[in-house]
This record gives sequence, structure tokens and C-alpha cells, in this order.
Amino acid sequence: MELDEVIAKRRSVRQYNPHKQVSKEDVIKIIQAAQQAPSWKNSQTGRYYAIFGEKKLATVRDCLVPQNQRVSQDVSVLLVTSYKKDISGFTNEGRAENELGNGWGSYDLGLQAGYLVLKAADMGIDSIILGLRDADKLREVLEIAQDEIIVSVIALGYRSQGEITAPKRKEITEILKIVE
Ligand SMILES: Cc1cc2nc3c(=O)[nH]c(=O)nc-3n(C[C@H](O)[C@H](O)[C@H](O)COP(=O)(O)O)c2cc1C
Repeated sequence: MELDEVIAKRRSVRQYNPHKQVSKEDVIKIIQAAQQAPSWKNSQTGRYYAIFGEKKLATVRDCLVPQNQRVSQDVSVLLVTSYKKDISGFTNEGRAENELGNGWGSYDLGLQAGYLVLKAADMGIDSIILGLRDADKLREVLEIAQDEIIVSVIALGYRSQGEITAPKRKEITEILKIVE
């Protein structure tokens, strides 16, 4: 697909087909695309935990708010995303380069997430980024080290619903100020 078409077609999907699975090979391809995103000094601090299998998926879904447990009911895989803290946006001595501090790590991870969902869409795989989750619980069940900041859970699968109307975007004049 052309890039514009992928961008237009990607939607946050909230109903998945339990009979169609995303493979581990697909997930590797998607994460490899995410790795191509730019990052602070190429620090690549994003980390991914790819959760497969009924039992493990149920454990991780339990770390989501009820509304997101429903949304992720029949997904093939959940990607718990995190980043190594105090690296992106920091000097080699561990001093924050500016006021954003670990905000840059989140920025890098967000860029990767953009690549990730677009690569998935290009492969015909649907996704949704879930921010409403319990990070402490996720850390405990996945034994995620304290030097990683847990961010989103991204669900991947194949939709069971048909065409989804794109949520309306703001007028360009509201978000873009051209200065010359
Ligand atoms: C950082 C972030 C957190 C989000 N968290 C949730 C969430 O917890 N639950 C949910 O249903 N959707 C969540 N979404 C999906 C947004 O609601 C969705 O992207 C937005 O409504 C635009 O729709 P679209 O993705 O189809 O363009 C999240 C999206 C982002 C980028």
C-alpha cells in the first residue's frame, strides 16, 4: 500500500476475530519496523513484551481497566511497551540534557509506536494502543525491571467489525501555525 493509504486505513480497532491469529513472525516484522524510527542519539530505549497464548493473555488483560479488557477480548497478541529510563534525553553521566528529562524516552517510544501501528496496518493487521492500564501490576506479572518505564499496551489482531468511520480530526488551522 502507498503510505497515504496506510495512514488513511489505520484505525483503532475494538472488536477482534478470535479465529484469526497474528503470528510470532508477523510480530517480529512489526517490531523491526518500529526499530527504524528515529531516537535520541539512536539510543533505541524502547522495549517490547509480546504476550501470546490464552493464559498469558488473560493475565495481562487483567492489568487493563475493564473497558480495555473488553476491547482486547479476542486479540492475538498484546505488546506491553516500555523504555529504559535516564538514557534518552540524558548525558552519558546520567544528567538530563534539558527540562523534558525522561519525556524524551516517551517521545522515542511514541515514534516507534507510530511506525509499529502503520507497519501492522500495511500488513493488514489491526491494532489499538491502550493507555488505561495498571503499570505496577504489569511490572509484577511480567517481572519488568525498575529501570524500565512502562507505557502502553498495544493490542494486535484482525478485526471482526467492518469499516470503521474515522474519528474526526481538528481543523489544520487549529493545530498548525505557519510562521514566516
Ligand atoms: C497514547 C494513547 C492511549 C490510548 N488509550 C486508549 C485506551 O486506553 N482505550 C481505548 O479504547 N483507546 C485508547 N487509545 C485510542 C484512541 O482513542 C484513538 O487513537 C483515537 O480515538 C483516534 O482514533 P483512531 O486511532 O482510529 O484514529 C489511545 C491512543 C493513544 C495514542
